[in-house]
Amino acid sequence: MKKFILIKKKIDFYKKKSIYVEGDKSLSIRFVLLSSLSSGKCIATNILKSEDVISAIKCIRKLGVKVNLRSKTCEVLGKGLHGFKPKNNTVLDAGNSGTVARLICSILINLNSKIKITGDRSLKKRDMSRITKPLKLFGVNIQDNRGKLPILINKSKLLKPIKYLERLGSAQCKSAVMIAALKVKGTTKLKCMPSRNHTELMFKNALNIPIQIKKQKNYDLINISGLKNPGIFNYKIPGDISSASFFIVLTLLSENKSLIIKNININPSRIGIIKILNMMGAEIKFFNIKIYKGEKIGDIYVKSKKKFKSISLNPRFNSSAIDEFLLIFLVACKCDGISTFKNLSELNKKESKRLDWGIKILTTMGIKVKKVKNNGVKIWGVPDLNLKKKNYYKKFS
Ligand code: S3P
Repeated sequence: MKKFILIKKKIDFYKKKSIYVEGDKSLSIRFVLLSSLSSGKCIATNILKSEDVISAIKCIRKLGVKVNLRSKTCEVLGKGLHGFKPKNNTVLDAGNSGTVARLICSILINLNSKIKITGDRSLKKRDMSRITKPLKLFGVNIQDNRGKLPILINKSKLLKPIKYLERLGSAQCKSAVMIAALKVKGTTKLKCMPSRNHTELMFKNALNIPIQIKKQKNYDLINISGLKNPGIFNYKIPGDISSASFFIVLTLLSENKSLIIKNININPSRIGIIKILNMMGAEIKFFNIKIYKGEKIGDIYVKSKKKFKSISLNPRFNSSAIDEFLLIFLVACKCDGISTFKNLSELNKKESKRLDWGIKILTTMGIKVKKVKNNGVKIWGVPDLNLKKKNYYKKFS
């Protein structure tokens, strides 16, 4: 009887509303770019067909790589580490994607032709010196436009491995160094602030590139020996926690609702939002957890909450919630007390100035919010805030 009740409870649980969200963007872009370096056919399923991923596909097609995209299945015929032969003066357009612009430069460092990398108006405003600096240390013949796009890469003389310290906590910057290291003879030693580790996991578990990783208190040490041929691989892309986060916060702030979001990438370097919301009083849970090619995948259960506690967030969580801060700010508006977030300068270096926009939006909602020193923000919560007021949305539409 006890067993029967348990099974019934389990069935009832699964009958709860459940959804899937689209495939993870970081993994989709990495699949496209890294599979182009492998020496055969790689297939990804459930790839995200968003503008940024399409930009990555267009770029590698221009480099002569064959890509078949059918429904959510993407087949890439990799050219190997030295196989690209693009025409001189080829222009690659990364569109709106910082990840594509920054990672693709490293794929181009050993070519014999002149390549220009550009992007849309917003991408042209973003800092590219964070990747051109380390690439120059490798000996790459690369020029940016006063730290911005367009970037020009030309044939380099001699490439040598580097020792590099990455202090921004930027996965794009770390990945740019890692991919460049693949193309250079010798061992590149990278010391970096922790950030999402998808490139490390794909190198090890998909491309079969031996890398060494040591975790220190505040830094990760990564050693990569270059010129090892990347293997061919297939990849089932899990759901994106960034997309799931909108539904998580919507459920949390609704009345008497619960939701299961299935098959999400819950890599510890990406779940800052869940940890932070739980510190604020949410009870978000993971279940059906499995490991796939080093990535942690699971289902997420979330239910509405009436009361939230304010927090003073330790900045060590910043990198793992970098794309979700505005949603966290929204929950902070409903907290009992004042919440403080610090060292958020990276937020203003994204597609839009997320920190400044967050402050503008909350102010329009009538929330007391203040930018504090070192790019921090203080949010005075209003526990009985009515988020259904229509005029909030009109002002920004
Ligand atoms: C990404 C890394 C993050 C994130 C971006 C995707 C990636 O940027 O904001 O949306 O796929 O590596 P930074 O690494 O520059 O912080």
